[in-house]
Amino acid sequence: MKSSWGLVGLVVLLCAGSWGPVAMAAEPQAVALAKRMAKTSMSLWAVTGPAKDRFQYELGVFLRGIELVYEETHDEKYIDYIKFKVDRFVADNGTINYNSSQLTLDDILTGRLVLTLYEKTKETKYKKAADMLIDQLKVQPRTKEGGFWHKLIYPYQMWLDGLYMAEPFYAEYAKIFHQPSFFNDVAKQFIIMEKRSRDAKTGLLYHGYDESRVQSWADPKTGRSPSFWGRAVGWYFMGLVDTLDFFPVYHPKRAELLAILKRLAVAVEKVQDGKSGLWWQVLDKPKKKGNYLESSASAMFVYSYARGVRKGYLPKKYLKTAKKGYAGIVKNFLVYTSDGGLDYTRIASVGGLGGTPYRNGTFEYYISEPIATNDPKGVGPFMMASIEISHVK
Ligand SMILES: *[C@@H]1O[C@H](CO)[C@@H](O)[C@H](O)[C@H]1NC(C)=O
Ligand SMILES: *[C@@H]1O[C@H](CO)[C@@H](O)[C@H](O)[C@H]1NC(C)=O
Ligand SMILES: *[C@@H]1O[C@H](CO)[C@@H](O)[C@H](O)[C@H]1NC(C)=O
Repeated sequence: MKSSWGLVGLVVLLCAGSWGPVAMAAEPQAVALAKRMAKTSMSLWAVTGPAKDRFQYELGVFLRGIELVYEETHDEKYIDYIKFKVDRFVADNGTINYNSSQLTLDDILTGRLVLTLYEKTKETKYKKAADMLIDQLKVQPRTKEGGFWHKLIYPYQMWLDGLYMAEPFYAEYAKIFHQPSFFNDVAKQFIIMEKRSRDAKTGLLYHGYDESRVQSWADPKTGRSPSFWGRAVGWYFMGLVDTLDFFPVYHPKRAELLAILKRLAVAVEKVQDGKSGLWWQVLDKPKKKGNYLESSASAMFVYSYARGVRKGYLPKKYLKTAKKGYAGIVKNFLVYTSDGGLDYTRIASVGGLGGTPYRNGTFEYYISEPIATNDPKGVGPFMMASIEISHVK
């Protein structure tokens, strides 16, 4: 008798460990899911990683997810982890161990966590480290009309990705260290990118723009790359929402940024898959063979809509869009692991333009890249989306 009750107890315990709903009763399900994702990813990348283990955007977007979990839970283990990960690259003298001569916007993003640590600790090393990134932006090459090149190796090119990589950091730095002139430049980046990449018919943004028209992916007339890649639009969308948090309310360009955000919100909602609530790898070609519902872009859009509404940047009606998207994510992309963690599946591993081997920006290119589980570009946005959704009433 006693031993069989023991067995039942054990089974109940195991279920509680492997099935969220039992353990989650006390808090919103979305927060519990974010914590499960944090558990898995913090253990996968306990010391090294994610990805190439460098001070660049894959670390940054992942840690932004952890940061939102920290803000929600106030559990110090999350901020301790962020500090540990950032301090692996930031020396006590404030030098960041990264190659600033490569002039890639991708390396700026993790600066957001540097600013978080500065705000929390007021240690001068974090101020110095942030200055080092600003020094890069000061010499970042630009298109003739003033847009940052995405990287030195991608001359005269602006990619949507870059707007998430650099602008929220640039704007937050400007706010913390009182550099009002930076805000003009921040606004200019979003405005140029929209002007150059927006398709008048769908309202969507093409992934890249080559001012020189040298790239074979670039349309000879417009300089645009040929496709609407989900995650690229997601980067731009999140970048704008996050930037607005730091952008002065009295600034003359704020209204223009809000107008861009609203135009984008309209366009992205139109390509939300009606059945699943998710978004396609190539946004405007749902029926085309080989296209698939992609999880990083879906999380980015859910985050952007939910946060955009919560912060008052977008109309309330988009909560429906966000909720529908999140329900699709929960239904389609999550695998609960037996240790109480979570795997996030169906993440496009990469998407770029040009380089070697040459990426031609076509539909065929985007669907040819591998699909991954627990890639930081999906893991981070999933945590962000979950935390934002938990605030939706
Ligand atoms: C800062 O510290 C790092 C690591 O200890 C070292 O490599 C670098 O030379 C130092 N930089 C300066 C300017 O002192
Ligand atoms: C840093 O990047 C520049 C430009 O790509 C390159 O010439 C240089 O060799 C790199 N330095 C290191 C230490 O990798
Ligand atoms: C573009 O690249 C893809 C693979 O990435 C290939 O399948 C396709 O044929 C290429 N298209 C053109 C027009 O070169």
